[in-house]
Amino acid sequence: MKNILITGGAGFIGSHVVRLFVTKYPDHQIYNLDDLTYAGNLENLRDIEKRPNYHFIKADIVDENRISGLFEKHAFDGVIHLAAESHVDRSISNPTEFIYTNIIGTVNLLNAFRHIWGNRAAGKRFYHISTDEVYGSLGNEGLFTENTPYDPRSPYSASKASSDHLVRAYAHTFGLPVVLSNCSNNYGPFQFPEKLIPLAINNIRNNKPIPVYGKGENIRDWLYVEDHAAAIDLIFHEGKLGETYNIGGSNEWKNIELIRLLCDIMDKKLKREEGASARLITFVKDRAGHDLRYAIDSSKIQQELGWRPAHTFEEGMEKTVEWYLENEQWMRNVTSGDYQKYYSSQYEKR
Ligand code: NAD
Ligand code: TYD
Repeated sequence: MKNILITGGAGFIGSHVVRLFVTKYPDHQIYNLDDLTYAGNLENLRDIEKRPNYHFIKADIVDENRISGLFEKHAFDGVIHLAAESHVDRSISNPTEFIYTNIIGTVNLLNAFRHIWGNRAAGKRFYHISTDEVYGSLGNEGLFTENTPYDPRSPYSASKASSDHLVRAYAHTFGLPVVLSNCSNNYGPFQFPEKLIPLAINNIRNNKPIPVYGKGENIRDWLYVEDHAAAIDLIFHEGKLGETYNIGGSNEWKNIELIRLLCDIMDKKLKREEGASARLITFVKDRAGHDLRYAIDSSKIQQELGWRPAHTFEEGMEKTVEWYLENEQWMRNVTSGDYQKYYSSQYEKR
């Protein structure tokens, strides 16, 4: 595959994937297609934007004509599809946007791919990136496997589940060469501060309350973003066609315990007295329909493709906190303007 299209490359995970592909595969042309919504930021790719094999295309995946025109022009033979509306809270306040981007946008890409390759698709690949949230919510026991029935419970996860079904349906009906993966919660540099970890880091830094939903007892399985990018590289090149791979950190944390750990790390980094940051913890009204627990069984990708996370949680958190403290200007830029409006609408009434 020579012309690789990565959608959503200006977002959090996409920017790590673009950086990895641009540097690791200098002979391949990497096209980053992104509409630069509130979550997309070209600053995330400053260090590689002048590389000769990197190309940026500003486009909306919902725009069917634009997308089919771009496929005709560039003949993308590999697609890694990450562009999405990705935040559960926003899907609760504005579900419709999620239907357009996550469902219609995915179908537009599938149609464009199918249209240019038809029955000449051997050796090409359409890789759809999804989430563990499509499997619903676990109780205290058990793990999500690739065979867990879908049971999405938020507008975000329902829209992602719908797109996963469509990708599989196109493979079955039209013979499209697809592969999928469903990953657990990511954390690391360049994550937009609407998600728990960067939001908490930013609030602790600025001595603002850290909003913990409900009693903080919900559990997530956290994976360092570069470990996800490495898994994506492996699945794109070596994953079996038609297969799905679950990716997770085997690293479950109750939200409140994660926040306490983060407070300890921040106290040390900011040279605050022990316990100072934890005093900012504030329990607020729970998220509507809040899923209790997500946890991934990633034995398939480990056994079939030999993937393992390369970072321990301690290393990943250390790198993450350091990055945010060293990149205050990035945080200032993304939190100016509309972020303030978003923050007040989400948190002032809680
Ligand atoms: P993000 O919100 O940080 O980035 C999404 C990117 O998509 C942004 O750059 C945005 O500008 C772009 N985009 C949004 N709508 C678009 C449109 N209509 N046309 C073109 N571009 C558009 O998201 P992320 O956290 O990097 O997630 C990337 C993908 O990984 C998503 O598909 C998400 O469902 C999936 N995922 C995320 C996580 C996680 O923990 N963040 C875990 C598992 C799976
Ligand atoms: P989030 O980062 O939004 O990811 P997801 O909802 O996709 O898992 O949230 C992670 C967990 O943290 C989730 O259980 C909701 C909780 N949470 C808070 O307690 N406070 C917050 O301000 C945010 C954004 C999330």
